[in-house]
Amino acid sequence: MARRQTQLEQLSEQLNNEFNISSQYIALDLSRKNSARALYEEVKFRNLEIDCLVNNAGRGHYGAFINQDREVSEETIHLNITTLTSLCQLFGKDFADRGNGRILNIASVAGFIPGPSMAIYNASKAYVLSLSRALHAELSGSGVTVTASCPGPTKSEFFDRAGADELKAMEYIKLMPAEQVAKEAYKALIKGHPVVIHGILNKMMAETTRWIPRSWVAPMVKSLMR
Ligand SMILES: NC(=O)c1ccc[n+]([C@@H]2O[C@H](COP(=O)([O-])OP(=O)(O)OC[C@H]3O[C@@H](n4cnc5c(N)ncnc54)[C@H](OP(=O)(O)O)[C@@H]3O)[C@@H](O)[C@H]2O)c1
Repeated sequence: MARRQTQLEQLSEQLNNEFNISSQYIALDLSRKNSARALYEEVKFRNLEIDCLVNNAGRGHYGAFINQDREVSEETIHLNITTLTSLCQLFGKDFADRGNGRILNIASVAGFIPGPSMAIYNASKAYVLSLSRALHAELSGSGVTVTASCPGPTKSEFFDRAGADELKAMEYIKLMPAEQVAKEAYKALIKGHPVVIHGILNKMMAETTRWIPRSWVAPMVKSLMR
């Protein structure tokens, strides 16, 4: 599930050949209105039974909040929050009716802290983290588990797409391999853990923000996000 048809087609072929399976893909822009419903209906139309929902698609934009393009901001909120929520609701209801199913929501360590220069992104990930924790508790005993994965900076196209090339902190940030994050998230999903934070430094960061005065956190992040 993504937008780029060619990449999806190649990945699908690779998975079919490597694991002798019959994978399917749906190319769809999830930042558009009603895209969650369109995806759900396509899955029903194809008569697919879904055991596990992974909400991975997400994006962020580096830069001053007041200078961000409003349309882009609204699309980001739609992708990171609205579509993810609707997919949890649509598939979560089916899972609960059936008595089993797993949901993995990709949040971020950004969800633990406000993010000057990436304000919408961090706020959207705080939402994903909070929603996932609430759903984990609400659905406990129903056979449905909800897990939030919280990676720190990870090797992917994310930072290029976020326009973060001017971010000085990128020079000393060590990016985690995406494969490691995926494996750890998968393990947490199978165990039904509510939250997994990837990497020791990210765990320490998330823990530390609970103990230092709240009024210090945003200014500290601001000084790092230049
Ligand atoms: N990289 C990091 O440092 C980091 C850290 C913490 C959390 N995360 C989170 O991890 C998740 C995956 O990001 P990533 O690091 O792998 O970044 P990425 O390389 O930019 O991948 C984003 C994925 O989402 C898909 N996507 C983006 N916009 C979409 C849209 N409008 N509709 C449908 N699919 C869309 C992309 O495919 P198409 O472009 O083909 O649509 C791609 O598969 C995101 O939720 C991100 O917030 C990343």
